[in-house]
Amino acid sequence: MQATSNFEALRTPECTGEPLIKMEQIDKMFRTPAGDFYALNHITACFYRGEFVSVVGKSGSGKSTLVNMITGIDHPTSGTVMVAGTNIHSMNESEMSIWRGRNLGVVFQFFQLLPMLTLLENVILPMDFCAMYAPEEREKRAMELLEMVELDKEADQLPAAVSGGQQQAAAIARALANDPPIIIADEPTGNLDSRTADTVFKIFARLVEQGKSIIMVTHDPSLAARTDRSMLISDGCMIDPVVAATFPNLSHRRLLWLTRQAQEKELAPGQALLNGDQAQAMYLIASGSLDVMQTTPAGQETRLERVSPGQYLSTLEMSLPPNHRVVRVSSEQPARVLALDTQAMDHWREEAPAEWQGLERAAAERTAGWTKVSE
Ligand SMILES: Nc1ncnc2c1ncn2[C@@H]1O[C@H](COP(=O)(O)OP(=O)(O)OP(=O)(O)O)[C@@H](O)[C@H]1O
Ligand SMILES: [Mg+2]
Repeated sequence: MQATSNFEALRTPECTGEPLIKMEQIDKMFRTPAGDFYALNHITACFYRGEFVSVVGKSGSGKSTLVNMITGIDHPTSGTVMVAGTNIHSMNESEMSIWRGRNLGVVFQFFQLLPMLTLLENVILPMDFCAMYAPEEREKRAMELLEMVELDKEADQLPAAVSGGQQQAAAIARALANDPPIIIADEPTGNLDSRTADTVFKIFARLVEQGKSIIMVTHDPSLAARTDRSMLISDGCMIDPVVAATFPNLSHRRLLWLTRQAQEKELAPGQALLNGDQAQAMYLIASGSLDVMQTTPAGQETRLERVSPGQYLSTLEMSLPPNHRVVRVSSEQPARVLALDTQAMDHWREEAPAEWQGLERAAAERTAGWTKVSE
């Protein structure tokens, strides 16, 4: 038996199970003096209950536009967003703001606390707006939330009298006022030093442990790495998470290009994929695994390698001598792969020789042990 981690599937853009948030074929077009500009293109994405997901991408890639589609701050040009069974863009503005107040906690980079209200009053405000708790309970609840973010002593201060980190902690307490199941945060640590950012991140992590679902836009790769998974956006398009996980060091531009080139294939357990020197493509494993088998002159087979989700197999390794190799889907379960054909591979090699050399080096390292096995 192989370790179960070998069979862990990397989640692909299309959704499975019962998502809490489902974005389907979202386009967002802005009319600009220079012409129509698509900030989001065909975004299909799911977020699940209890997940902590980071949204990552370069400045201008569409991260804020994407989360604004979930908060209802902005509307898609086409496509639907379902949140816990509600088609949120079918509501009018007043229905939307009540719905948002009850279901979402929204946290921004610049805190956006009301400057004339104390921290306590800022936290009470959403409860008043949505009439979620009895009036006499609201202050007590707000104090508890401020205690949770260690701001009980500052409750009566105005925002300007406390630090940036404390203002953000108060903004998180405010976001939690109506006990929403979902928190959407757009660069909540973007304006904080790294130690304060860490404190804010830990508050989020604790909320996830308590069952909240969080989507957090961030520029900080070290914070993104601490979330359950990252959703990468480039030029308003989603990078396939399988592509991103397989090539963590490639540029977002390249990852998006690979996402567009890749063809998803479902392969049956035990199916032979390609044969030694006939290798034609690169296969990125999304789920299941591929076994590289070596046949001895006597006709006996040994397994050289098992290639699992997050890894890939290319012509580079398949064309190394000696041949007589076969690649098969592991017999335990079907495999889902993203395949790149020869044309795409040739294009990649010509356009980015340095990247290609990197792939060749990696292939040489991976296959260093193979010759030993077959000698
Ligand atoms: N109201 C608007 N009108 C025209 N273009 C817009 C509008 N809002 C956003 N855009 C454009 O859409 C693209 C995506 O913007 P968005 O703010 O979503 O990027 P972002 O990834 O959040 O960037 P940053 O990391 O700088 O916050 C950008 O090119 C931006 O200029
Ligand atoms: Mg933004």
